Amino acid sequence: MSGKLIVFEGVEGCGKTSQMQLCYEWLQSSNIPVIVTRQPGGTELGLHLRRLLLEKTDNQKISVRTELLLYAADRYQHIEQFIQPNLAAGKIILCDRYIFSTIAYQGYGRSLDMDLINQLNSIATGGLASDLTFWLDVDVEVGLNRKRGDGDKFDRIEQEKIDFHRRVQQGYTALATSNPDTIIRIDGNLTKQAVQQEIQQVLEDRFTLYRDNPCGYLE
Ligand SMILES: Nc1ncnc2c1ncn2[C@@H]1O[C@H](COP(=O)(O)OP(=O)(O)OP(=O)(O)O)[C@@H](O)[C@H]1O
Ligand SMILES: [Mg+2]
Repeated sequence: MSGKLIVFEGVEGCGKTSQMQLCYEWLQSSNIPVIVTRQPGGTELGLHLRRLLLEKTDNQKISVRTELLLYAADRYQHIEQFIQPNLAAGKIILCDRYIFSTIAYQGYGRSLDMDLINQLNSIATGGLASDLTFWLDVDVEVGLNRKRGDGDKFDRIEQEKIDFHRRVQQGYTALATSNPDTIIRIDGNLTKQAVQQEIQQVLEDRFTLYRDNPCGYLE
């Protein structure tokens, strides 16, 4: 039985990490074999690429096409080395960002040519789509303020101008509208527990959770 790829998307500070962790604990407590990963940075090589992509660089500007290619390189490596083997092993993979991030950030945010982005996404994934994507929808100001509240130093992407983040948000809105069956919008302004409740409800509605099996699974 093959696993499932479940992706968490949204603007900075929308709650991806928090929700993935809660979801991980919930699935694990039901004996479902689950793992958590991210793009970029889900492999050893990917960690290097993540640093290159997210570190602030005052003196060495990364061109927008270089950025796109680095994300694609990370994705290819991650799918080949991590996602495919774990899907084959029947794992439920909770993945922080996937191809919709590239469409939202590099397509809408950076205004890169959408055909080029789709082509690269297709090369990087070999056509592997997520089984389900949760879009945690919060206003960009809310997300950025949460991060500010944490005292986090903003990374290279987070420190972009507010208009950039707004275009990214428009991207997610457009993507959710055109993919209503695969992208599930969740109101990210709710409390963490309420957001998690919604996520669990969607998973229970969409899949069968064989949680009483000693080696539980989700189908
Ligand atoms: N529903 C929520 N309500 C209020 N605060 C929240 C909520 N979800 C997450 N937070 C808080 O907002 C901050 C950012 O959350 P989190 O790290 O989960 O977001 P993220 O989407 O993973 O961010 P990043 O874009 O940096 O990866 C954390 O301090 C977290 O505790
Ligand atoms: Mg996070």
